[in-house]
Amino acid sequence: MNRAQRPSPGAGETHDEHGDVFTALLDGSLHFGLWDDATRSMREAADNMTDLMIEKLAVEPARSVLDIGCGIGEPAVRLARARNVDVVGINVSRQQLAAATERATVEGLQDRVRFAFADALDLPFPPESFDAAWFFESLLHMPDRRRALSQAARVLRPGGRLAVADFIRRGPDLDEQTAVEERLAGFHISAMPTLEDYAETVADAGLVMVEAIDVSDRSWRQTLAVVQENIARLQHTFTTPSGQEDYWAEAREMLPRIADGSALGYAVFVAAKPRG
Ligand SMILES: C[S@@+](CC[C@H](N)C(=O)[O-])C[C@H]1O[C@@H](n2cnc3c(N)ncnc32)[C@H](O)[C@@H]1O
Repeated sequence: MNRAQRPSPGAGETHDEHGDVFTALLDGSLHFGLWDDATRSMREAADNMTDLMIEKLAVEPARSVLDIGCGIGEPAVRLARARNVDVVGINVSRQQLAAATERATVEGLQDRVRFAFADALDLPFPPESFDAAWFFESLLHMPDRRRALSQAARVLRPGGRLAVADFIRRGPDLDEQTAVEERLAGFHISAMPTLEDYAETVADAGLVMVEAIDVSDRSWRQTLAVVQENIARLQHTFTTPSGQEDYWAEAREMLPRIADGSALGYAVFVAAKPRG
């Protein structure tokens, strides 16, 4: 990776608080959406992104999956239903873990979908414990993507697949990108890698890149339009990162440029742990 990663909190309370802001910005979801001609709402778009991750993970029934940075459990429950697999979701936000556990129980999936407090940078599982894993828009919160990917590689069985959804840099290193990243650092979002950076980091972690898809054209501008509307509607209810009272006003001013530009975007990729 050719850019220094900014420090992130590791503190679950920060993610408790930020999780509430993000779900408000994303109409109840905790990840970006994926649009096609039939998509009518952010809700549907968020499910479309989950479905793409499920398709790319391509896990067989009855296998075990680790959901790293599981949010409020929606993706884990959808995955378990779609593929008939067991899912363990981990998170550093106790508030989100409680919501996730309740969701699995309400859906009657509490025996197959379980959640636990754990830090992605120090996974408390023995080597080769899972058949598959994903970081669904969670790596961006981690100060050291290489370490997080290495941890995932350690707990995957040989041949196991890893799916990732993350923000990426697509253009040259412009001042605008740096300004955006400084703003996102207020929410402990690390500097964004390019897909080439990712290929390097994935290899360093002992994994092999299988496929990388830049989905920005179906995701980035559309999701940021929803975020912009929600900031306008709800900003008076949001807290600001400490010492940045104008945060939301400045975000509103900056968002259209980020949304319309091609410098930043969103990608889904799949890597695999080599067999033997
Ligand atoms: C943008 S949310 C995505 C949530 C979920 N994967 C989804 O797609 O709906 C990022 C998640 O990563 C979690 N997270 C951040 N840093 C983490 C860490 N070091 N270990 C485990 N989870 C972490 C956050 O608490 C949050 O649940």
